[in-house]
Parts: sequence; structure tokens; C-alpha cells
Amino acid sequence: MKIITVCSTKGGVGKTTISYNFGEWLAFNDYKVLFVDLDQQCNLSQLYGLNKQQNNVGNIFDKNAEEPVKIAHTDNKNIDFIPGNENLHNIIRVNETDSNKNMRLYMWFFDNYDTVKVYDYVIIDCHPYFDTLSKNAVVLSDIVFCPITPTEHGYEARFTFKRDLELYRSEAIDFRTRKSYINADVYYIGNMVKHNTESSKKFLEIIKGDSEIIAVLPDRELFNKTTLEHQPLIKMENSGSTKYNRYRTVFKTINEEFTKMKATVDSVD
Ligand SMILES: Nc1ncnc2c1ncn2[C@@H]1O[C@H](COP(=O)(O)OP(=O)(O)OP(=O)(O)O)[C@@H](O)[C@H]1O
Ligand SMILES: [Mg+2]
Repeated sequence: MKIITVCSTKGGVGKTTISYNFGEWLAFNDYKVLFVDLDQQCNLSQLYGLNKQQNNVGNIFDKNAEEPVKIAHTDNKNIDFIPGNENLHNIIRVNETDSNKNMRLYMWFFDNYDTVKVYDYVIIDCHPYFDTLSKNAVVLSDIVFCPITPTEHGYEARFTFKRDLELYRSEAIDFRTRKSYINADVYYIGNMVKHNTESSKKFLEIIKGDSEIIAVLPDRELFNKTTLEHQPLIKMENSGSTKYNRYRTVFKTINEEFTKMKATVDSVD
């Protein structure tokens, strides 16, 4: 089992879209995937009609929750789901004084290891802040993917995120051994990269040879379509519908980038 957190301190950079399409791509390739929606916007849960589900991720963080978390099934036999909670910030706020507030997701996975060990990949979709929720995700993860976009602030966001993560890595230590609880390395995914604009060209120039940027995804209306129509790219490609014929090269590019992302995930200990 590999646990992947998709996180950034900038909003709207494609965390949910990438989580969704990469997770569906893994599932299509016959891997078992568990999605965890750690964003109170519940965008990923909405894609599966699971945003109003009871006994969701909130129960992991709510000390007074009476029922256990219920892992939801989806129409895809290879995808299960811990749905989001639209009140998650309040739940976190109430439990803010807990000494182990950043470790609750880790503890839940540890306690439920027999249930979760059947998944090949766990994908945690975060909200755009590096706070208690994102820290819970990172401490549990083998790898962190941070999407960055080819704008000035989009590229700079990479360094803000890295600084926050490294600060957390240095703080979250076992006091006896001084070893950090954070094992995950962060890798970046260029997203919404256009093929003909100055800013995208400059972006591609800057990232050339940068081993931390492991994939580049194009800016394509097709990505909007996936979330609007609740249909992932990999299913569009394999639907047999002729209306997707003109996207063949786009699908090919994206499959290649997802292959690189998987190889990076598989390479981490
Ligand atoms: N490669 C892409 N090409 C075109 N549009 C994209 C691409 N990736 C994401 N989008 C679009 O950008 C918008 C924001 O994407 P998304 O919701 O995935 O971002 P996010 O980082 O999860 O946002 P938030 O920080 O609010 O959680 C959506 O409308 C999505 O369809
Ligand atoms: Mg999102």
C-alpha cells in the first residue's frame, strides 16, 4: 500500500482534478484505490455523490463520534471512499487542544490496518492550507504531490509549500530519538500548462532538468469536462465514443504523465 497526499497552499491548482483522474487511471489499470476527502468543500466526494454521507471523515477527527467511519463503495469496483465532511473545520476547531491533533488520521489507519491494507493506493485530497488537516495527511503519507501552475505566483507557491512542509518535518519529531515522523518526500506536478503562451514556455524552461517536477499536465478543457460530467479521462478514452477521437494525443500525453507519477510513487520506500 502506498499513501499519496495531494496538497498545496494555493487554491484551484488542480488537486481534486488530479486526484480524481489519477485515481481512476490506477483503478482502470486494476489497482485498488481508496480516496480520502480531507477538504470540507467535499469536491471529490461530490464526484461520486458521496458529499452527504454519514459517518464520514469527520468521525476520524471527532472524539465524540459514536459510530465508526464507514468506507463507501462506488460504482467502480476498484474504488472505495472515505467521504468528506462539510463541517470539518468546526470539528477540527473543537478538538484543537488535543495533543495528538495532527496524528488522528495516522492513528485511525493504524487501528484499521486490516481494513485498509487491501488497497494498493490511498489518495488523500487536501484543501489549500497547510494546517492541522494537511499535517494529518502528510504524516501518514509515503509521498506528497503538490500541483503548481505556470504563473508567477503559481511557481512561487512551490517554495511556500516546501518551507511549510520542512518546518513541520523538523517539528514533528520523536523526542527520544529526534527522528521526524514525516517520511514523505514532496514532488511537484506542473498543471494547466498551455502549449503556446509565454508564461508556459518560461515555466517549461525553468523546470527543465528539475528532478522534483515529475510530470507536466496540459491545460485542456477536457479536464473541466471530467469534473462537470463526473467522468474521468480514462473512461472517456475507453468509452468507444467517436466524439473523443480528436483527443487521442491528449489522452496519450496524460497517460504518459500518469505513468511517470505512478513510477515515482512506487519508487519511494
Ligand atoms: N489541466 C487542466 N486543464 C484545464 N483545467 C483544469 C486542469 N486542471 C484543473 N482544471 C480546472 O481548474 C479548476 C480547479 O481545479 P480543482 O478543483 O481540481 O483545483 P483544487 O486545487 O482542487 O482547488 P481547491 O484548492 O479549491 O481544492 C477546475 O475547474 C478544474 O476543472
Ligand atoms: Mg480541491
